[in-house]
Amino acid sequence: MRQLFGGCMPLFLMFLAACTGGPSSQEAIATTAGKDSEGKMSAPAALSEVAQKGKNIFNMNCSQCHQMNKADLIGPGLSGVRQKYSEEWLRKFILNSQALIASGDAQAKAVYEKYNKVLMPGFNFKEEELVQLLAYLKEGAE
Ligand code: HEC
Repeated sequence: MRQLFGGCMPLFLMFLAACTGGPSSQEAIATTAGKDSEGKMSAPAALSEVAQKGKNIFNMNCSQCHQMNKADLIGPGLSGVRQKYSEEWLRKFILNSQALIASGDAQAKAVYEKYNKVLMPGFNFKEEELVQLLAYLKEGAE
């Protein structure tokens, strides 16, 4: 890397600012970091390290169907699920909601019926990942 990028070669003239950049470019980075897509300042996410990892898992596996607020997407918004369900239930549902529904669990059947019998895929999370995800479901709720 040093050989490639070292010394701001002419090839990298475009990035000269980034290479030589003093306080001004640092500042630019710092001031854009806390803004959302509309350029408004957003509240800093005060997630614990564990929950932050859970957020990454959520973004990769759940966000296409769920939001961390009360609004429905394909599935229900997930804020409040840590209050609504036991941890035990959430673990089972996330790993294999189908099995939980088939077992006759009343809560699982109710949410399945309510969301037009769309089945949620099962996930093969490791214990560590489940812990992280559950932490995010708790801390990340809007
Ligand atoms: C392909 C879409 C899809 C994906 C991906 C998905 N879900 Fe779901 N989820 C649903 C649907 C639809 C429901 C409604 C109930 C059902 O399907 O049985 C649901 C229900 C839930 C519920 C119950 C919510 C309530 O208010 O009762 C929880 C909790 C949940 N999902 C968590 C997750 C988590 C965590 C992930 C990621 C690891 C995830 N889901 C990924 C579609 C999805």
